[in-house]
Amino acid sequence: MNYRILTPQEAACYINDGDGVGISGFTLSGTPKAVLPEVARRAEEAHAAGKPFKINLYSGASTGDAIDGMLTRANAINFRAPFISNPTVRNAINGREITYTDLHLSLMAQDLRYGYLGKVDVAILEAIDITPDGKVYLTTAGGIGQTVANLADRIIIERNTYHHTMGLHDVYEPLDPPRRCEIPIYKASDRVGKPYVQVDPKKVIGIVEVHQPNEQVVFKELDPVTSKIGENVVNFILSDMKRGIIPASGLPIQSGIGNVANAVLKGLEDCNGIPPLDLYSEVLQDSVIKLMELGRVKAGSTCSLSLSQECLKHVYDNLDFFRDRLILRPSEISNHPEIIRRLGIIAMNTAIEVDLYGCVNSSHICGTRLMNGIGGSGDFARNAFVSIFTCPSTQKDGMISSIVPMVTHADHTEHDVRVVVTEWGVADLRGKGPDERARLLIENCAHPDYRNLLWDYLKITKKGHVSHNVAAALAMHATFEREGDMRKTCWEKFA
Ligand code: COA
Repeated sequence: MNYRILTPQEAACYINDGDGVGISGFTLSGTPKAVLPEVARRAEEAHAAGKPFKINLYSGASTGDAIDGMLTRANAINFRAPFISNPTVRNAINGREITYTDLHLSLMAQDLRYGYLGKVDVAILEAIDITPDGKVYLTTAGGIGQTVANLADRIIIERNTYHHTMGLHDVYEPLDPPRRCEIPIYKASDRVGKPYVQVDPKKVIGIVEVHQPNEQVVFKELDPVTSKIGENVVNFILSDMKRGIIPASGLPIQSGIGNVANAVLKGLEDCNGIPPLDLYSEVLQDSVIKLMELGRVKAGSTCSLSLSQECLKHVYDNLDFFRDRLILRPSEISNHPEIIRRLGIIAMNTAIEVDLYGCVNSSHICGTRLMNGIGGSGDFARNAFVSIFTCPSTQKDGMISSIVPMVTHADHTEHDVRVVVTEWGVADLRGKGPDERARLLIENCAHPDYRNLLWDYLKITKKGHVSHNVAAALAMHATFEREGDMRKTCWEKFA
C-alpha cells in the first residue's frame, strides 16, 4: 500500500464537528504534534463563522498544553477522558465548559471497546514509521493506540523522525468477554505481544511528516519535606523486608506521578539495603533511567517514557543497553489488575488528603475542584502487594491539613490503602481496626499543629464500628473555605 503524504492542514480536514478522536500517547509522551493544532484552527474558524465545532477527545492519559491547552483555548473540546494535568483544560472542566469522565486508566481502552464512551471516528497515531501492510511502530508511549486504531473509521499517521524507540514496544490487546483469557505476563520484563500496532492499511488516510520532540517535562526540585517522605517510604520497605513480609529478593515497584513520587525514587537511589528491583508502572521518569544505569532497577515496564528531552536523547544514544531493559506497553496492560495482583507490586501513589480511617482523595480539592484525576492510582492501589499513599502533612503554608476527619471525595477506600506516609512518619494500617488507624494517622502522619484538633474531633464523634460526627466531619474544609485556615476549626458547636 502506498500512503498519501498529507500536510497537517489536509489531514485536519478529515476531522469534523462532533467526531470522536482517539490519539496515541500517554502524558506528554508519544502524542501527535501536527494535526491537532490545525483542528484547533478549524474550530476557531468555524466558531467565527457562527458554526459549531467540538470534538470528543480520548487518549491514554493526560496531554500537555499543545493538545489539551490549545484545544481548550479554541473551545474545541466537548468531552474528555480519562485524565488531565494541564491547567487550562482543568479550569474549563471545573468551569463546566467541558464534560469530563475520570477513569481508572486501565479501563480507558476497554470502555471504548465496550461502547461506554461513544464512537471513535478518527485515530491519530504518532509513529516512527508505518509499513505498507499496516504495521505502525509507535514512538514513546503505548497508550490506547491499538484500540483506537481498531475502532476508528479513519487513521492518520504522524511520522515523527525525531524518535527511535524501535524494539521497545510490546503491544497486546486482550480479547473481550466471554473470550478473555489470562494475560501471560509473569515478570516485568516478559514480552507477550507484537512490537507494533497492526492497522488496516485501507483505513489510513495518509501520513503527516513531523520532526519534533515531546513537550518538555518539568520537575520541581526536591525539598526537605518531599525528601523526608522518600526516606520514610524506603525505611518502611526495608523494615517490611527485615520482617520477611516483602521477600528478601524484593518485589516490583510502581511509582506514581508528581513531586513526591520523584522523592521516593530518589530515596531508592540513596539506599543500599534494597536489592535491584523491577519497575512495573505506567510512567517512567528520568530518575528510573538513572537507577537502571546504577544497576538498582533491572527492568522497567511502563506505558510511557515520561522523560526530559535530555534524558530521552540519552536513552536513544544508548538504545542497545536500554532495549533489553525497557518495555513499553498499552495502558490497559501496564495498569492491568490481573498482572498487578500476580506480580505483587509495591505501589506508591500520592494523596491529596487522607481521612482518619485511611480513605484517600487523590483527585478533587475540597471535594469539588478536579486536580488531575484518579489516573492509574486505583488500578495499582487495589491490586498491589502493598499499597502506600504518600503526601506532605500540610499544604498551602500549613493552612490545610492533609489528614482530615473525612475526605471530601473518595478515590481509594480504607480497603485499598495499606500504608500512609508523610514527612512525619508512617501509619501502617494493615490489620488494624478503626480506632488504631485513627491513632496511627494522627500520631505518626498528621502535622503536630493539627494533632490536638484531630483528637478533639474524635471526642465529639458518635461511636460505632467507625466513629464520626456527620455534622462536623467536613468542618475543617468548611473553615478553610470560609477563613482560609483549617487550624481555626472549632468543634464546640458540634458537640
Ligand atoms: N488541599 C488543597 N490543595 C492541595 C491539597 C489539599 N489537601 N493537596 C495538594 N494540593 C495542591 C498543592 O498545594 C499543589 O498546588 P499548586 O499546584 O498550586 O502548588 C498541587 O495540589 C499538587 O500538590 P503537590 O504537593 O505539589 O503534589 P504532587 O505534584 O505530587 O501531586 C497529586 C499530587 C495527588 C495531585 C498527583 O499525584 C495526582 O494527580 N495523583 C493522582 C493520579 C495518580 O496518582 N497517578 C499515578 C498513577 S501511576
